[in-house]
This record gives sequence, C-alpha cells and structure tokens, in this order.
Amino acid sequence: MANTIVVGTQWGDEGKAKIIDYLTRSADIIVRFQGGANAGHTVIAEGKKFVFHMVPSGIITPDKVCIVGNGVVFDAQQFLREVNELRAMGVTVDGRLFVSDLAHLVLPFHRLEDAAAESCKKDMYKIGTTGRGIGPAYTDKVARTGIRVGDLLDWDLFTGKFNRSFSTKRTLITTAYDVRFDLNAAAILDEFSRIRTALLPFVIDTAERLFEAIRAKKQLLFEGAQGTFLDIDHGTYPFVTSSNTIAGAACTGSGIGPLSIDHVVGIVKAYTTRVGNGPFPTELTDATGETLRSVGHEFGATTGRPRRCGWFDSVMVRKAVQINGLTRFALTKIDVMNHLDEIRICTHYEIDGKKVDQFPSGHSLLEKAKPVYETMEGWKADIAGCTRYADLPAKTIAYIERLRNLCYNMPLLVVSTGPDRKQTIEVEPL
Ligand code: GDP
Ligand code: IMO
Ligand code: MG
Repeated sequence: MANTIVVGTQWGDEGKAKIIDYLTRSADIIVRFQGGANAGHTVIAEGKKFVFHMVPSGIITPDKVCIVGNGVVFDAQQFLREVNELRAMGVTVDGRLFVSDLAHLVLPFHRLEDAAAESCKKDMYKIGTTGRGIGPAYTDKVARTGIRVGDLLDWDLFTGKFNRSFSTKRTLITTAYDVRFDLNAAAILDEFSRIRTALLPFVIDTAERLFEAIRAKKQLLFEGAQGTFLDIDHGTYPFVTSSNTIAGAACTGSGIGPLSIDHVVGIVKAYTTRVGNGPFPTELTDATGETLRSVGHEFGATTGRPRRCGWFDSVMVRKAVQINGLTRFALTKIDVMNHLDEIRICTHYEIDGKKVDQFPSGHSLLEKAKPVYETMEGWKADIAGCTRYADLPAKTIAYIERLRNLCYNMPLLVVSTGPDRKQTIEVEPL
C-alpha cells in the first residue's frame, strides 16, 4: 500500500471504519487527524463489534501503531473509556497508541456550551449537533483560548488555564444562553488530575513520530471522520461540523507535508444518509426511505438518532471527487438495496428551471435544488456470498458502473457487501 487518506464523500457514516479496517492490514500507522468524539466508527471482525469515537479504528489489528493527531479535538474522558474497554477485550494498546501534545482538549464546559447554544436556537436554525462539545472546542482553539493536551504536563499551567476558561464559560452560558451552569470546577480538576496520570504515557510529539516513519518508508493510513459535506468550508454551511473534513486536512491535522500522500480513497455509500439538520436534495420521506433505514440499520453510532435516507446523489459525489482529489472509491452498503424493485440515481439538479451539474455552494440555492433522476431496475438478489466483482448480478454491476460513470469513472478499490470484515470484494487494490 501507499500512504493513503480515507475520507467520507457524503454526510458521514459511509462505512469509513470498515474500509480503514480492511486497509489497516497493509498499513503500519493509522492516524486520526480531525473531528473528535462526534465520530462513531464501527468495525465488525471475528464476531466482535467495535465502535470507536476517539481511538483510531486500526487499533484492533495487532502491532499497528495508532495516532491521534493535533487536528483532533481530544475528549480525554472518552479516550480513556475506549482504552479501558479495549484492555478488557484483551487488546494491547500500550506502546502503540499515541496522542499529540498539540491536540486541543474537549472539556465538560464545551459539551454544556454545545447543548446550550443549540437549545437557544429556533428549530430551523438548530444544527442537530452530536452534543460532544466539538464546535465550542474548535471555537476556543481558533480564538486562541483553548487548552491543549500538552498543557497537562504542567499541572499549575493547566489549572490556571482551566480556571480562567471555566469562569468565562460560566458567564457565557448563564448570561448569553441563559442556561443553568451546574458544573463544579474542583470536581472536574480532581477528575483531570487522575486523567492526567492515565493519559501522559500516551502523549508525544506525533508530527516527529510521523516524520521518522515517512523517512523509514512506513505506510501511513489517515482515518477521516465525518464526510465531505460536513466540512466547515466546503460543506452545507452552517449545517456542518467545525473542522475541515476533506483530504487536505490530513496534512495540517497531523503535521506532514502534502507530497507524502499517494492515494485518497473516498468512501461512497450506495445511497445517501444524513444525521442532523440541513438540506438533503435526494431525501426520501416515504416507505423506501424507511426501508433503507431499517435494512441498513441507519441509526447514529454516536447518538443513536435515526439517519435520514435518500437516493444516491452524483452531484454531491462529483464535488467530493474534485475537492478531495480522490484516486479510488470504496463503495459500501450496496447489499442494503438488494430488495428494491427499482433504484434511482440523481444525475443533476434543476434550480429555477435550469439544469445544474455542479453542487451549489450557497445554502439558499441548495434549498431550491430539485433532484433529477434516472431509474434503474433493482437486482432483487442476495449478494452477500459474492467474492468477486464479476460474480455480482449484472444489474448490480450496471448500477455501480453508472455511479462511476457519473463521477469521472473513478476506479473502485473495493465493493463492500456487508458489515463484516469478510464481506469485501477487492476490485483495484492500491
Ligand atoms: P463510519 O462513521 O463512516 O465509519 O460509519 P458508521 O460506523 O457510523 O456506519 C456504518 C454502518 O454500516 C456500521 O454499522 C457498519 O457496520 C455498517 N456497514 C459498513 N459497510 C457495510 C456494508 O457494506 N453493508 C452493510 N449492510 N453494512 C455496512
Ligand atoms: P462519522 O465520523 C455523521 C453531524 C451531526 C450534525 C453536524 C454537526 O461517524 O461519519 P457536531 O457534533 O460535529 O458539531 O455536529 O455534523 N456529524 C456527523 N454525522 N457522521 C459523523 O461522524 C458526524 N459527526 C458529526 O449530526 O449534523
Ligand atoms: Mg459514523
């Protein structure tokens, strides 16, 4: 394998972790570079199900090194919960799991601020965040008032910064948002003094570690979180997350140079889903949408919320090819469509009576976008047993080839036909 970035091409939950697990076999180091515990990454392997929020999904493969990079907003409490769960399952993490000293901490008042900011918005303005404190933690980072993992090395420095932030947040939350602030600074500091002891063995200069790995020709795998259309710049703003989720963020979020990247794999769900609010041109609010949700188990891995479901939207995925510089697609969840009589693909939009092929950048234009569909016959067969691309039913291949054809004929890395590690058809390896 070559140094590879994996990103979601839609609104998250495309099955990134399943493909990360597949690619981990040929990687040495797996790196998270943005987002935080808003991510919910599911891997099913050897009869066990793992859901990761903070720890890179590569951790379940023995001997691989996993890094949480500087671009992540780091939830230490969640991280240690996952570490303890992994240890209880017999997975060794010591000496192969590292956290950047430059990553910003998500603290309990960030979660409270996240909920308070949402509760003050009228329904149509609510983002529907995961409530994990992501927006407030990134806001503090950019405002240069954040507290970093490395600050924990010096307890006096940490407590000074913490106390200043705590009192600013209390004022903000009680006055601007008019929400009850029931956090106790002494109790949080007490908890963080214990967290600090457990966490410090994981904390290193991860950029240096990656530089040395590149020099030693190790294979790096970058695990994106969320998806292209949740990107703070390129996504459906303001209904987005607070980080750059696209491939470019892998370099800034881990501290490596752009020339070290060889491949960018875009994970493409065979239909579209979205959790939270915001425009969704191909959304299905009928029985077909309900079928996709129940057959595809489309409920959030982080919050359990039902995911909104709709047809595949090639306008979006073409844009994802452009802004991520994709070199492969990994197509997931095609099996969820096994029972459908007919399947639709959105080829372009119509906005104010005009044909539009390119994803509109403004929210108001997107709100007006009417999807224009092509209809294909469903294959009505169970494809779970297929192990070669050529063994798939002709109608399944026709659907996949039409998707590719609408998206610059992107080569396929794999086609995933089920949640298990084994249900993966290799097409064009890296
Ligand atoms: P991620 O956030 O992109 O890693 O995706 P999630 O883990 O949030 O959601 C993807 C869900 O689909 C998980 O429950 C996976 O186990 C499951 N999954 C992944 N690939 C496939 C597939 O090809 N078919 C089916 N049926 N399920 C899949
Ligand atoms: P993975 O990595 C799907 C969505 C939330 C909300 C918006 C902002 O599992 O694909 P935030 O808490 O980030 O401020 O919420 O982004 N969101 C996700 N949707 N998958 C995710 O991660 C998501 N992470 C955030 O639902 O609409
Ligand atoms: Mg997810």
